[in-house]
Amino acid sequence: MDLKHVDKFAKEMIFEAGRRIRQSFSYDLKIETKSGANDLVTNVDRETELFFIESIKAFDATHKVLGEEGMGEKVHSLEGPVWIIDPIDGTMNFVKQHRHFFITIGFYVDGVGKLGYIFDVMREDLFCAIAGEGAWYNGSPLRKLQPLTIDEAVIGINASWVTPNKHINHEKIIELVRTVRGTRSYGSAAMEIAFVVSGKLDAYISMRLAPWDIGGGIVIAKEVGAIATNLNGQDCDLLNSDTFIIANPYIHHKIVKDYIEEK
Ligand code: IPD
Ligand code: CA
Ligand code: CA
Repeated sequence: MDLKHVDKFAKEMIFEAGRRIRQSFSYDLKIETKSGANDLVTNVDRETELFFIESIKAFDATHKVLGEEGMGEKVHSLEGPVWIIDPIDGTMNFVKQHRHFFITIGFYVDGVGKLGYIFDVMREDLFCAIAGEGAWYNGSPLRKLQPLTIDEAVIGINASWVTPNKHINHEKIIELVRTVRGTRSYGSAAMEIAFVVSGKLDAYISMRLAPWDIGGGIVIAKEVGAIATNLNGQDCDLLNSDTFIIANPYIHHKIVKDYIEEK
C-alpha cells in the first residue's frame, strides 16, 4: 500500500471536515445526551462522521471505518485496512467553548498503526505521523521526548481522580499530584495526547477511553518515543474501552508502578 497516497487523502479529508465544522457555528447545533447527562453528541458530530465514512468509501470501498457515532458498519476485527475515527473529540468543549475540540483519526492495517492524526479544528493545527517515518506538527518534525524526572513533570489528569472513586486508590493519585510540577485538564483526550507527544505535557491518565479517542494518538506516540498503555502497563485494546496512560518514556513505568492502584 502506498502510505504517502493515503496520507495525502487523509489530510485533505481532515482539512475539509474542519472547514465544515467551523462553518457549523453559523447555524443552530442540535445537542443530545448519550450514556448520561454529561455525555454529549450533536448533529455536527454525526454529520462529520458521515462525511468521513463517505469520503473513505469513495477512496477505497474495501477500507473499514470504526467511528464513535456508529454511523458506519459494525467493526469486530482489525483485519485489513481500518480507519478509527473520532469526528469531534471534546464535544463538551465544542458546545460550550467553541474551541479545544479535535478531529482524531488512526489508520491501521491488520491491527498495525500506519497513520495518525490529531487536528485542532479552530487553530487549524495538525499533529500527524507516518509509522517508521516520523511525526510532525504543522509540517515541522516532532523530536523524540527528552529525559525528565517525575518531579519535573506536568501531567494531564481529571480532578475526579483525587476524590474517592470506584476505579482507583485516590490517595496514591494525591501523592502523584503532590510530587509532579503541575497538573492540567483540557477536556479532550486527543488534545492531551497531542500535548504529550509534543512535550507540552509529560503524561496523561484516564480511567476510560474508547479506541477512537486514542487510535490516532498511539501512532504519533510511537514515533516520538512516548509510551501508551492501559493502567496495567499492557498494550491498548483498539476494539474495546479501557483505562489509558500515555507518558514520556522516562516516567511511564514509575507512574504505573508507584502511583496507580486500581480497585
Ligand atoms: C471525551 C473527551 C474527554 C474524555 C472522555 C471522552 P468525546 O470524548 O476526550 O476528554 O475524558 O472520556 O469520551 O465524547 O468528547 O468525543
Ligand atoms: Ca472522544
Ligand atoms: Ca467524539
